Amino acid sequence: MVVADGDPRKGAALIDRYGCGACHTIPGITRAQGRVGPGLTGFRDQAYVAGVLPNRPGPLVDWLQSPPRHSPQTAMPDMGISEAQAEHIAAYLYTLEGR
Ligand code: HEC
Repeated sequence: MVVADGDPRKGAALIDRYGCGACHTIPGITRAQGRVGPGLTGFRDQAYVAGVLPNRPGPLVDWLQSPPRHSPQTAMPDMGISEAQAEHIAAYLYTLEGR
């Protein structure tokens, strides 16, 4: 899946900066070995985002900007990520294949 304005290399840097790896294991991101949330290996082949949104670029960008808005009980916090930043992060997440 292609995120129109997303740059996966910027996304990888943002994932590192926001510390997503404290909660997620994410291939290609140094120190991203977290076990709080689901591992993101193969994320692009998954049907849903957190079981609540279809896994397409628009909904994924929405999720990254405010998880609790879409899933009130979720343990993933709103981290104040902008739409442009979320697009870069989504572009990186859609490079993640395999299982
Ligand atoms: C405090 C821990 C925490 C942090 C920090 C965090 N997440 Fe999450 N994340 C979670 C949890 C827990 C879930 C599962 C949410 C659910 O199912 O309600 C989740 C779900 C997700 C999902 C959906 C995964 C799936 O299998 O459907 C993605 C994608 C995601 N996070 C990406 C990120 C990114 C990118 C960042 C950094 C900007 C981040 N997360 C930061 C805890 C976290």
